[in-house]
Amino acid sequence: MEQDVVVARQTVRKLAQDCGMRLIDMTKLVTAVSELARNTVVYGGGGDMDWHVLKEVGRLGLRLTFRDTGPGIPDLKLAMTDGWTSGNGMGLGLTGAKRLVDDFVLESSPGEGTRVVITRWV
Ligand SMILES: Nc1ncnc2c1ncn2[C@@H]1O[C@H](COP(=O)(O)OP(=O)(O)OP(=O)(O)O)[C@@H](O)[C@H]1O
Ligand SMILES: [Mg+2]
Repeated sequence: MEQDVVVARQTVRKLAQDCGMRLIDMTKLVTAVSELARNTVVYGGGGDMDWHVLKEVGRLGLRLTFRDTGPGIPDLKLAMTDGWTSGNGMGLGLTGAKRLVDDFVLESSPGEGTRVVITRWV
């Protein structure tokens, strides 16, 4: 649901503010969240987002996990190619999101679902 994407964005904006993230970094992170949440809704049939605040000596970070139990992604390399879409998108969501975060892990098993874990340090 489009509303889930809105809630994911709001949740991450609040978390990022609480961590003292700069506006420019927050904007990048929220853009990545929009893309991943939208994929979860459009291709995964819906799912959820977990979050963790990472606390290391001298730095804070946000780790977000998007999970769905949809059809999964048969070819991860293809899915991570700029401009490739199986639907009517632009094929820039996953690759764009990856560029906007510090760490990006995509895991998927056909028939079981998809998991994307992103990390952005403050
Ligand atoms: N959660 C998911 N479950 C199943 N397939 C997915 C999922 N996320 C992405 N995919 C597959 O990976 C492809 C690439 O995703 P990506 O977000 O990069 O592009 P898009 O959604 O097609 O277009 P855009 O995001 O630019 O509007 C999708 O077309 C879809 O086939
Ligand atoms: Mg997309």
